[in-house]
Amino acid sequence: MEKILKKFGELFSGQPSLYASPGRVNLIGEHTDYNEGFVLPGAIDKAMYLAIKPNHTDTINVFSLDYNQMVSFVPLREKLDEHWANYILGVVMELRETGALAGGFDGVFGGDIPLGAGLSSSAALESVFAFALNDLFGLNKSLAQLARIGQLAEHHYAGVRCGIMDQFASLHGQQGKLIKLDCRSLEVEMIPFDPQKAGYRLVLIDTMVKHSLASSEYNVRRQQCEAGVAVVKQKYPQVHSLRDISLEMLHDSKHLMETLVLKRCEYVIEENQRLHQACQAMQNNDLETFGKMMFGSHEGLRTKYEVSCKELDFLADLAAEYPGILGARMMGGGFGGCTINLVSEQAHDGFIDQAKTKFLEKFGQEPKVYDVVISDGARKL
Ligand code: GLA
Repeated sequence: MEKILKKFGELFSGQPSLYASPGRVNLIGEHTDYNEGFVLPGAIDKAMYLAIKPNHTDTINVFSLDYNQMVSFVPLREKLDEHWANYILGVVMELRETGALAGGFDGVFGGDIPLGAGLSSSAALESVFAFALNDLFGLNKSLAQLARIGQLAEHHYAGVRCGIMDQFASLHGQQGKLIKLDCRSLEVEMIPFDPQKAGYRLVLIDTMVKHSLASSEYNVRRQQCEAGVAVVKQKYPQVHSLRDISLEMLHDSKHLMETLVLKRCEYVIEENQRLHQACQAMQNNDLETFGKMMFGSHEGLRTKYEVSCKELDFLADLAAEYPGILGARMMGGGFGGCTINLVSEQAHDGFIDQAKTKFLEKFGQEPKVYDVVISDGARKL
C-alpha cells in the first residue's frame, strides 16, 4: 500500500481513498458456474489495492504498478491498446449500461496476487474498481450487482465468457468462511472453514504455466455445454441448463450427441454432485471425504473436461501419493496456474520440499508455493 500511496503522491494531487479486493480460491465446483450450478470459493489474503480520487473531469487516469504504466482515456466503447486498462474501461462502461454514471478519476493500483496463476487477479481488479466507484460516486449497487458488472466487463472487454464465481468471491468473501453459491439464484450459504483448527492448511502450488489456451478453450467448453443442453432439450423441453439435467436424462439423449459433448456434460453434472457431497462431508467434519471429492474433481477435469495440463496432473498425482494430503486438484479455468491442496500440518514441509524437487527435476523450474488463508472480500481501507 505504501508504494501505491507514494506513486499517487508523485502523479496526482490530493488525498485518495483506499480500497482492496482479494483473489480467490475455489475448493470444489469447477466450470459449474456458467452452467447455473454451485461453486465453493473463498477470498484469500492476497489482494488488489487501489488509491483513487475523483478528478471532476471526464478523463480517467490510471497507473498500474505491476506494468509500471500510465493510461489516460475518456471512456468510450472502443477498446484500449493496454490489455490491463480494458478491465477498468469495461467496469466503467458496464456500470454505465445499468444507468450508473461514474465521473473521471485518478487512480494507482497494484497488489500481491500472482498474475496468471488462476487466482483471479483480473476479477480482483474489476472488483476493486467496481467497489470503489460504487462507493465514491454513490451508485447504490449491491455487491451481487457489482459482481455481475465485473463479469460483463470480462465478457465484453476481455473476450472471456466467464461465470460469476470469481467476481462474486472477491466481493463477498468473509474471513474463515467459504461461499457456497448457487450460480442460478445467487443465493449464498456461508460455510465456516477453518482447516487449521483440524490440523490442516490450504496450500497452492503454482506450476508457473501461463494459461494461454485458457480464454479460447474456455469459450469452447461453454459452447459444448450449451450444445449438450440443446440436445437434451429436444426430449425434455423444460430444461434450461446442465443444472437441470441428471446423468440419466443426459444418457437418454446420448445417441444424438457428439462424444466430446457428452463427456463435457457428464463432467459438469458429476462435479455438481461432488460439490454437494463435499459440503455434506464438511458439515460432518469429515475432511477426508471432502478431500476425496477434490481428487475426484481433478480426475474429471483431466479426463472428461480436458482442461488440465501435464504440470497440473503431475502435482495432483504427487499429492495423491503423499501421506497426509487429504485432497488436491487443479483450480480455476485450467491449462496452467495452481493446484489447491489440503495438507496436514505434519506433511506440510515434507510435501512442499518434495513437490519443489520433483517438479524441478521433471520440468526444469521450481513451482511457487503459497499458503493461503480464507479472508475478507472487497473493502474500504
Ligand atoms: C474461471 C472463470 C470462472 C469459472 C472458472 C472455472 O476462473 O472466470 O467463472 O468458470 O474459470 O470454474
